[in-house]
Amino acid sequence: MTKNNVNQPSPVLVGLMGSGKSSIGRKLAKHLGIPLIDLDEYIVQKASKSIPEIFADLGEKAFRDMESAALREVIGQQAVIATGGGAVMREENRVLLKSHSPVIWLKASPEFLAKRIDGDSNRPLIATGETLQQLKHLAEIRYPLYRECADYVLPRDDMKKREALDSILQFLQKI
Ligand code: S3P
Repeated sequence: MTKNNVNQPSPVLVGLMGSGKSSIGRKLAKHLGIPLIDLDEYIVQKASKSIPEIFADLGEKAFRDMESAALREVIGQQAVIATGGGAVMREENRVLLKSHSPVIWLKASPEFLAKRIDGDSNRPLIATGETLQQLKHLAEIRYPLYRECADYVLPRDDMKKREALDSILQFLQKI
């Protein structure tokens, strides 16, 4: 473990919506004996509004501002951090991610993800209903950004959560 100034790794999970950042993050945090900070939940609590309400009432830019502020606040804490899918969009966020923590990209295909999240009303970016198309569009823009930030790429398709956890733990043991 070289990127933190403490012995305990504080991994950050990135990846598109539906890739399992929160659920795998929860298991990982439990295993490492540290808290999970789910960035979306953190923002929701601070704003006292749901994600769809933030998007509808304040707009996406306001959400992104909150997301960047939240990341600045929590990065470096001894915790597993599950980011929202768009956290890599801003350069300032990528700089933070790359400098602080082992970043793990849960890489999943749009086809895999669409099956998992189609119709989820808590995700404003797929509210149009064209989930697969939207995920393909996001993947095109974001895959290079996830890749740029990632210390470890986990091929998430076809991998059960337990296997995903084991694979992340193996990676963490090596750093
Ligand atoms: C977003 C992903 C969401 C949430 C917001 C925007 C995105 O988080 O932050 O709806 O831009 O991909 P999840 O990746 O946890 O769904």
